[in-house]
Amino acid sequence: MLIDTYGRVATDLRVSLTDRCNLRCTYCMPEEGLQWLAKPDLLTDDEIVRLIRIAVTDLGVTEVRFTGGEPLLRPGLVGIVERVAALDPRPQMSLTTNGIGLKRTAQALKAAGLDRVNVSLDTLRPDVFKTLTRRDRHKDVIEGMAAARDAGLTPVKVNAVLMPGLNDDEAPDLLAWAVEQGYELRFIEQMPLDAQHGWKRDGMITAGDILASLRTRFTLTEEGAAERGSAPAERWTVDGGPATVGVIASVTRPFCRACDRTRLTADGQVRTCLFATEESDLRGALRSGAPDADVAELWKKAMWGKKAGSGLDDPSFLQPDRPMSAIGG
Ligand code: 5AD
Ligand code: SF4
Repeated sequence: MLIDTYGRVATDLRVSLTDRCNLRCTYCMPEEGLQWLAKPDLLTDDEIVRLIRIAVTDLGVTEVRFTGGEPLLRPGLVGIVERVAALDPRPQMSLTTNGIGLKRTAQALKAAGLDRVNVSLDTLRPDVFKTLTRRDRHKDVIEGMAAARDAGLTPVKVNAVLMPGLNDDEAPDLLAWAVEQGYELRFIEQMPLDAQHGWKRDGMITAGDILASLRTRFTLTEEGAAERGSAPAERWTVDGGPATVGVIASVTRPFCRACDRTRLTADGQVRTCLFATEESDLRGALRSGAPDADVAELWKKAMWGKKAGSGLDDPSFLQPDRPMSAIGG
């Protein structure tokens, strides 16, 4: 098992498949993009599948989430999903994507064994989308989500980040739309993970702001702790249900005590937390011929060193060197 000194057990593995992206969301990347990882530094498809196999068969991981950058940009994605679906025990598999390209790939991903998708969408207004992501691709995302739903990659979850002065008035519209479409909407507080270090606590839209805004139009009833488990989203039923809305309050109400995550970057480093300042190199072990047992041991050792929390609420908080796109959401 991947257990840490606080007794938490990591069963949810996030695998970043690439650090590249075809959007430039302002809370994530600068306009010009970033210095991408070089191809030889990326794990190969075989290396990724091997690490996931070790996690699932030797380390108790039950859930695998593919992230990026934008994971649909990884050429071997469908093949990776297929091979992970064939593992015993078979883990739950989901994909966190910006939705561009889903229209083309949703059916193949479903057939390969993917269970569901999380799609990022912050606005219903194409012009605001263009300002937020610096690309005019709103329609592609909307169509991608519908394709995922039609392919049965359900429930389709929608992640929205509200940015002051851009889309902070859109929470109720987003929720009304998501309920109508049958998507499960979750708002995520903006975190200090942008490459440009532009995050400011003062300006950020908090969970409290989001709930107040939603309550101007909807009756929200909080779900109990039992339903929440280790899920980062606190959930509310909307107007008596069955629809729900989630809020991931990473900054104002951190959920580190229940964290069950372990993360693998596209270049084969284990990260114990989004905000970790240290990484453990599994790629080096793989490439120097280490047997599975040694790789598993390194992974366990890395998780044993997991810190109690993100440190976000500490004045001495230091933003990690890697931006979100190079860690995986
Ligand atoms: N703060 C909060 N959420 C972020 N995401 C990307 N960067 C940030 C940030 N700085 C979101 C994306 C996506 C998920 C992987 O994380 O919108 O939905
Ligand atoms: Fe791309 Fe996601 Fe970053 Fe937006 S938040 S630029 S979609 S990696």
